[in-house]
Amino acid sequence: MADLWQSAMDHAVVREALQVDRKVMTKSSSVDLVTQTDQKVEKLIIQSVQEKFPSHRFIGEESVAAGERCVLTNEPTWIIDPIDGTTNFVHAFPFVAVSIGFCVNKQVEFGVVYSCLEDKMFTARRGKGSFCNGEPLQVSDQKDIKQAIIATEFGSSRDPEVVDHIFSSLRNIVSIPVHGVRGAGTAAINMCLVASGCVEAYYEIGIHVWDVAAGSLIVSEAGGVLMDVEGGQMDMMSRRIVAANSKIIAERIVKEISVFSPLRDDAPPDGHH
Ligand code: IPD
Repeated sequence: MADLWQSAMDHAVVREALQVDRKVMTKSSSVDLVTQTDQKVEKLIIQSVQEKFPSHRFIGEESVAAGERCVLTNEPTWIIDPIDGTTNFVHAFPFVAVSIGFCVNKQVEFGVVYSCLEDKMFTARRGKGSFCNGEPLQVSDQKDIKQAIIATEFGSSRDPEVVDHIFSSLRNIVSIPVHGVRGAGTAAINMCLVASGCVEAYYEIGIHVWDVAAGSLIVSEAGGVLMDVEGGQMDMMSRRIVAANSKIIAERIVKEISVFSPLRDDAPPDGHH
């Protein structure tokens, strides 16, 4: 099992950084933000894991941003988002998480999401359930989408075509009608909300593998389901996800999504779909 206290330490770094100057840089677009804290936390995690498990591999959001390939092999691999909710972090909007998923043979074996400001540690081990601060989690049993809250995000692309897809899906979902639509500003926490039974589902196109690796196991171990936005099996590298309390709710959401396909996380550097 991962060193749970490692995330606690990272959390301390993140909280401390919230008090001081947050130097903001941009990545894929003017709204895709990164700070020195993202980079610092990722380095800290990788260094400390490497000391214990020198042969293990890593996929880290900031290492990929710095040019490393994002390829998931069968080898033990730590998939790290040092700060999920970087935009929240920059604005001190209080949902920020450290997300670590551990894969072997391309299967997530355990996931840890630390919601830094709520002080909640979400954990899941494959086959052994999901927990928040040690208490077992269970998805909601609501099967009527009209009684549901759905979580989603606007993402970090401002390409007009993408924005049209996002609003079209949102319009369809709101008009079902559902009880409400929410977004915490972090994919990892949205998925923990599904696992906790606070929302019935979360969907998004445009996320990355580090946003959802840990959360996907936390959802499924809490009794939830994962699906691609066109139905069928979720592919962690495809940047598309529906995570729901049940197949019924997931399939109902799939019907309403205006689908598009961003460049895969594991796309070759020349960038074909
Ligand atoms: C982002 C957050 C956000 C989601 C984006 C992600 P980051 O991750 O999870 O909620 O809408 O798609 O990229 O950049 O804060 O690690």
